[in-house]
Amino acid sequence: MNCKKIKNALFERLPLSLRFLIETLRYWRSLCRYNASKRTDSDQRKMQYTLQRETHVIEKGMSMRTTRRGFGQAKVLALMGRLQTYVEKYADKPFVVYPLSTIKEYIVFQQKDGVAIPQIETRFDELCKQVGVQPSDLHLPAGIRMEQCDKLQQAAKGDFRSLLYSRHSIRYFADRLPSHQKIAEALELASRTPSACNRQAWHTHVYFGEDSHRLLQMQSGCNGFHDDIHCSIVVTADMKGFLGHEPFQCYVDGGLYAQNLINALHYVGLGSIPLSCGFMSNKLNEMKKCFHIPDSEVMIVIIGVGEMLPEMKIAISTRKDFTTTNVFHT
Ligand SMILES: Cc1cc2nc3c(=O)[nH]c(=O)nc-3n(C[C@H](O)[C@H](O)[C@H](O)COP(=O)(O)O)c2cc1C
Repeated sequence: MNCKKIKNALFERLPLSLRFLIETLRYWRSLCRYNASKRTDSDQRKMQYTLQRETHVIEKGMSMRTTRRGFGQAKVLALMGRLQTYVEKYADKPFVVYPLSTIKEYIVFQQKDGVAIPQIETRFDELCKQVGVQPSDLHLPAGIRMEQCDKLQQAAKGDFRSLLYSRHSIRYFADRLPSHQKIAEALELASRTPSACNRQAWHTHVYFGEDSHRLLQMQSGCNGFHDDIHCSIVVTADMKGFLGHEPFQCYVDGGLYAQNLINALHYVGLGSIPLSCGFMSNKLNEMKKCFHIPDSEVMIVIIGVGEMLPEMKIAISTRKDFTTTNVFHT
């Protein structure tokens, strides 16, 4: 037996609780190495992901029902500062085209609103010059656009491609509760999700009205629009469904279910927005306690749900080309 095999055999003989502890420590080691909050700018990928996130914050700001006049100026200046650092460090022009396209849309947005932002405009022009792009050449779809409810609902009932391309995160809704019947139909469709050994360890908890608002206020990723979302579905996965060799499988099965539910909600004609549960355990435990979610269930995501208004703003959220995220291992 070689060294690795002996090590694995010994590991298998340890009590399960000790193996879990070792697994947790290994995860801790990966977190310390790879989490984007640590040594961010010295790693190109970490820098890209965080810049992508900061770009989204700007487009998300524009996609609210109402925006504070002149919102986001400090954030845009900070983003431009980091973009400059990125270009100086990594000389990667293609990556910055999308953030720059978003900033260009932000400037147009503020101009239409009659807000003067000369400092941002000057800084933007300087940055474009440094990167070597003309602002007029920034053609990537960015920022926001208007969508009509009937068009989205029609597209959702088209083929699979049409369903995927017409689903968007929606951050404000009609001022009425979504129909129980539609939610039930979406839950029934989402139950077609595959799961490891067909265990179907997902659960859902649906809240309406004031309860939904309180839950979303606690979630805090929808500051400024939590009162506009009158229904929330918490998707959880039950840790009791998984064995010793699959300590993190609940997140995979729960995540697959959540995505199917999001698509199913779109199919039945409701608007939705996934809202993060990627928080530290103290916050999640408090939420579970307040909203009567069993301790054995891990919170995967909260889905804000609503009846769509006739017309709404959506953030464009342009996707990366799949060739930049895929490797064919031929
Ligand atoms: C797991 C997850 C968590 C999210 N959390 C938030 C959130 O807290 N606040 C928010 O406004 N949007 C949130 N979103 C929505 C994303 O911003 C959105 O899905 C992304 O920009 C892509 O846009 P699209 O959904 O319109 O295609 C979340 C999405 C996912 C998948």
